[in-house]
Amino acid sequence: MAQVIALYSVKGGVGKTASAVNLAALSALQGRKTLLWDLDPQGAASWYLQAEPESAPSLAQLLKAKSVAEGLRPSVHRHLTVLPADQRYHNIEHVLAEKKDAGFRIAKVLDGLTEHFDEIWIDTPPGITLLGDNVLRAADLALVPLVPTHLSERTWFQLKAHLAEEKIKPGKLAAFLTMVDRRRALHREFFDEKTLDIPELWPVEIPYAALIEQMGDDQMPTVFKHARHPAAQAYFQLWQRVDAALQTR
Ligand SMILES: Nc1ncnc2c1ncn2[C@@H]1O[C@H](COP(=O)(O)OP(=O)(O)OP(=O)(O)O)[C@@H](O)[C@H]1O
Ligand SMILES: [Mg+2]
Repeated sequence: MAQVIALYSVKGGVGKTASAVNLAALSALQGRKTLLWDLDPQGAASWYLQAEPESAPSLAQLLKAKSVAEGLRPSVHRHLTVLPADQRYHNIEHVLAEKKDAGFRIAKVLDGLTEHFDEIWIDTPPGITLLGDNVLRAADLALVPLVPTHLSERTWFQLKAHLAEEKIKPGKLAAFLTMVDRRRALHREFFDEKTLDIPELWPVEIPYAALIEQMGDDQMPTVFKHARHPAAQAYFQLWQRVDAALQTR
């Protein structure tokens, strides 16, 4: 049965998609049968992995365990399958809200996928949403990228408060820093001013790297195209950390 790892954050543009793609790519590289489920209607992860669908299941089919697998697409990479996003899923919030099991639908849909894979990585849109709550409930581990700014840190505490309100287990959350650039005054001040009061923050930093931004042009995970680059190496460290955390769950 697959383990489910979500990239999640309240704040947008913090590197969820870049991380989901690179970490899923690393799982596939280790020979794990890996699925990346792109749940963001922007479809960026699907694009990066060259798995944009010609035809995708309707939202109604996507939200059913017995038909969700019809949407699976092979990627160009060995061991890596994609369940791509489609622009038509933009109203997923409203559709979920109408379901009887509105808060647990994604967990149920995963039942139609878990037996086919070792690891399922989920990319999510930003924000505190019903879809986000679904994913947080369903995931074995929810990874939250934080950029070193006070605003980003603040959203971490908003997320913790929200989990408590929704009675979602906080133990599945872990955070890591990304887009770290100590040449930037804002980032330096952030590190100089204080030690972060986030016990769930893993000691792994993904540096700011223009190569990661290039993924949109290359349509190739950075960890494959530039395996020796420090950003790719940092993603490998993060992947190892995830792997170790999953062993103990
Ligand atoms: N470590 C990094 N260094 C430099 N650029 C990065 C890094 N990680 C991500 N980016 C770039 O920052 C932008 C936002 O990243 P990404 O799309 O992964 O964030 P996101 O959290 O998924 O955004 P959204 O909330 O819109 O889904 C993208 O242009 C991406 O290429
Ligand atoms: Mg994204």
